[in-house]
Order: sequence, then C-alpha cells, then structure tokens
Amino acid sequence: MDSPVTTPFSTLIRTASHEQHTEAENSSFMSDMLGGRLGVAAYRRYTEQLWFVYRALESASALLAADPVAGPFIRPELARTAQLERDLAHLGGPDWHAGLAPLPATAAYAARVEECARTWPAGYVAHHYTRYLGDLSGGQIIRGTAEKTWGFARKGDGVRFYVFEGIGNPAAFKREYRELLDALPVDDLEKQRVVDECKRAFALNTAVFQELGREFPLSA
Ligand code: HEM
Repeated sequence: MDSPVTTPFSTLIRTASHEQHTEAENSSFMSDMLGGRLGVAAYRRYTEQLWFVYRALESASALLAADPVAGPFIRPELARTAQLERDLAHLGGPDWHAGLAPLPATAAYAARVEECARTWPAGYVAHHYTRYLGDLSGGQIIRGTAEKTWGFARKGDGVRFYVFEGIGNPAAFKREYRELLDALPVDDLEKQRVVDECKRAFALNTAVFQELGREFPLSA
C-alpha cells in the first residue's frame, strides 16, 4: 500500500479522488451538456451555480492570504468571480442577478466552503484544489464545447470563466500548484483529513449536477 509518508501529497489527493472525478465527469447533466444535448438555459443555470461557489471561495481570499497553510494557494490570477459575472451578464443581461437563488445543493456546497474558510484553512485547500485545478484541466474541454454548442466567441463573453488570462502556461502553473500541495505544512493525519474533504468537495459537485439534471432532463 502507498503510504502518505512516501507518496507526494499531490499524487495522494489525485489518486484518492480519481473515482469520484470519473463519476462527476460522467454525470448525466455533464454528459448531456458536453454532448451538446442541452440548451443554453442549462449552461446559464450551471454558470449561476458556479457563481455562488466561487463567491464563497473568493470572498475568503483576503481572510486567508496570510494564513501559513492556505495563503500560498491564494493567487489573484485564479480568481473567477469577475469573469463569471461577465459571462452571466452576457447570458442573462444586466439584471442577471435579479431573483437569482442557488439550488439547495449549491447552497450546501457554498456553506461548506465558507465554513472551511472560517474555521479550517487546510480544508479550504481541499476545496481550492478541487475547483481550480479542475478548471485549469477539464474546464478547457468544457469551454471548447460551450463555444461550439452555443456559439460563444472563442475565449469571449459566455466562457470567460474558463479563460485564465494571467496564466500563460497552465501546465507549468499546475506543476507549481502540485509542489505547493506537496509542501503543505501539516502532518499526515491532517493530510488524510484534507483528502477526505476533497472527496466531500467532489460529492458536493456531483450533488449540484444531480439537481441540475433534474431541472434539465433530456426531453428525448
Ligand atoms: C466533464 C467534465 C470534466 C472533464 C472532461 C474533466 C477532465 C479532466 C482532465 C482531462 C483532467 C486531467 C488534466 C491533467 O492531467 O493535467 C482533469 C483533472 C482534474 N479535474 Fe476534471 N474534468 C471534468 C470535471 C471535473 C469536475 C466536476 C471536477 C470537480 C469539481 C474536476 C476536478 C478536477 C481536478 C481537481 C483535476 C486535477 C487532478 C490532478 O491532477 O491533481 N473535474 N479533469
């Protein structure tokens, strides 16, 4: 068995969440959306949910910037809230925010992120990893599909969430990010808790997909 002592933490967390990654990727909402089988209303609803999640992640940035565990991960070039707001204004007009409410699963997800941000910086790192490293990876596939399916300009309004203007070399950025994970200044027991929180983060994402799937079932 791999032990946390010998396995780099970045490998541990990726391996531990692999199965749930596959599950999230293959959720019917994601497959239908990426298969081009859903309308732009579903994409908009999904983007709205992301806004609640990133607001929770990013409103904690100032609070955590000086934290020895979470602080090194807080990088302005990752911040997505402003890009999401531009995308949502494109999708919903200037009043996109009027009457907007999160799905119950999204509210639960955002609440857990906020709780970690307030009380447990290492747990916050699990949420940070689950979202931002995913956006830098599979997010690029989602962008390409969204551009093709709903006719957004390449890297333009509607898909700005997926465009990291401040990151010239995503592969190098991800390498450095993994080095930060490997250097996480916590003991093995705490690392295991972070892995568990990452699994929880994946489950929270999957729950959002399930609710979106119920709202946008395939009519066929
Ligand atoms: C259909 C949707 C998705 C696709 C096509 C996809 C695809 C990918 C791919 C190809 C990678 C590997 C990139 C690399 O090795 O550098 C990756 C990594 C990752 N994905 Fe996804 N993904 C999807 C959904 C998600 C979701 C919903 C989450 C969680 C919210 C997520 C979180 C991650 C994370 C954290 C990584 C980084 C793993 C690591 O290297 O440590 N992905 N994804």
